[in-house]
Amino acid sequence: MPKPTKHVFVCTQSRPAGHPRGSCQAKGGSEVLQTFWQQMQARNLFDQFSVTYAGCLGPCDSGPNVLVYPEGVLYSGVSPTDVTAIIDEHLLGNQVVERLKAPDGVW
Ligand code: FES
Repeated sequence: MPKPTKHVFVCTQSRPAGHPRGSCQAKGGSEVLQTFWQQMQARNLFDQFSVTYAGCLGPCDSGPNVLVYPEGVLYSGVSPTDVTAIIDEHLLGNQVVERLKAPDGVW
């Protein structure tokens, strides 16, 4: 397996119903993860990038959260329809998707 040039962590943390912190899972984190995996497979990108599910990344209120390394860019409120932009603009184009980037005070 070649070393990935970027690693995407998608929060799929779940919590019991009524938990005060909520969770990315309850907000669609798994759908975001599945969309990443579907696009990576369809576009044959797994030899360049890695996509992994993650537990809580911190700012649960603003999830689903997606963290991209090595840049350490956190995206918040990500929906499945945002995945194409993250792949095209950030993973392939090396440009941060500003409209999805978590505010500086969050990350
Ligand atoms: S549950 Fe996803 S950041 Fe906390």
